[in-house]
Amino acid sequence: MAPLNPEWLYVIEQSGLPVGSLPRWSLENYRTELESLESKVFTWGEGPQGFVLYRSLPDAEAWVMHLAVRDKGRGQGERMLEAWIEDLRSQEEPPKTVALEVSDLNLAALGLYRKLRFDEVGRRRGYYPDGSTALVMRREL
Ligand SMILES: CC(C)(COP(=O)(O)OP(=O)(O)OC[C@H]1O[C@@H](n2cnc3c(N)ncnc32)[C@H](O)[C@@H]1OP(=O)(O)O)[C@@H](O)C(=O)NCCC(=O)NCCS
Repeated sequence: MAPLNPEWLYVIEQSGLPVGSLPRWSLENYRTELESLESKVFTWGEGPQGFVLYRSLPDAEAWVMHLAVRDKGRGQGERMLEAWIEDLRSQEEPPKTVALEVSDLNLAALGLYRKLRFDEVGRRRGYYPDGSTALVMRREL
């Protein structure tokens, strides 16, 4: 497979967002993350249609840096996250937990994680540049 292009990931995230809203990650964020040796990418569908950017932490946790699907609000996010979790389970040394941070204003992402049984385990008030609170969410694999 050809190396992942940061612009593809940026376009996937941006696709279908309300007019005028900016993706949470800039192109520069994607470039930096993809250049990092610790960065791992799970891609979903042809094109691809979505991605999970994550890192494996030393305490057997898969930490999601960012994720997005192209076609939003049609069950793709849920299917991709389930497929990613299956992929983690099939690894030689699977992580024990998966975790992430999400803005309390990101209702689609919050709804998705709650539906897939992530628990809120912490809060960071005013964490994001827009002043929103970050919820730390985790689930057992
Ligand atoms: C967040 C994201 C991955 C969710 O994927 P999606 O395909 O839009 O979500 P799905 O259609 O799979 O929805 C799964 C569940 O999430 C919840 N959900 C989805 N959209 C929602 C919304 N707008 N409001 C509230 N809950 C929502 C629902 O519980 C839904 O289940 P249901 O359809 O049975 O009600 C996607 O919207 C996206 O790419 N957003 C831009 C990037 C982003 O914000 N990433 C998260 C970073 S933390």
